[in-house]
Amino acid sequence: MSPARFAVFVSGTGRHLENLAALAKRGELPGTPALCVSNKAGVAALDRAARAGIEALVLDPERALDAAAFSARAWSEVEARGIETVVLAGFLRKLLVPQRWSGRVVNIHPSLLPAFGGKGFYGERVHRAVLERGCQVSGCTVHLVDDEYDHGRILLQRWCAVEADDTPATLAARVFAEELVALPEALRRLWSAAPRG
Ligand code: GRF
Repeated sequence: MSPARFAVFVSGTGRHLENLAALAKRGELPGTPALCVSNKAGVAALDRAARAGIEALVLDPERALDAAAFSARAWSEVEARGIETVVLAGFLRKLLVPQRWSGRVVNIHPSLLPAFGGKGFYGERVHRAVLERGCQVSGCTVHLVDDEYDHGRILLQRWCAVEADDTPATLAARVFAEELVALPEALRRLWSAAPRG
């Protein structure tokens, strides 16, 4: 797949959006962040998009649309802008992936999937569950998105130790440091892979 114009879908703070934009600007990521889509109004990610000079859209913050209608709106906005890859980074709403987008939508999840994934496993809940289970390692997973939460083919995983005195917050910070490496690296690999037949 060739270096891509990509969109970043967000629901919250947008640290990945900011990181990807900074890497692209420095020439360390061979793609262009061309659009930020948020399903929430007033979130920090929208300020980060503005600071990075990235067009931002807020889609259906009042949750009037069902998953199919929301997804149709999102794809039409994305396709109108010639976007080739969609990155879900802290995006907490169901997005249905049509066949024509299969293999071009990626998500980052803060656990070593398939453990601690699926509906309801997001944010601090993931890290709390990892600690409650007594796991000694955790990490993050970048994967392709299909219509099941946290389910598609895994592109890249990075792991870190769980320390005896970890809280959900300290573990989240250690995992997030790995995420900042994993997501751009997975995108580089995806874009350098041979074009799909
Ligand atoms: C990350 O931990 C990511 O794995 C999860 O949500 C968080 C996103 O953070 N899906 P941010 O919105 O990019 O700051």
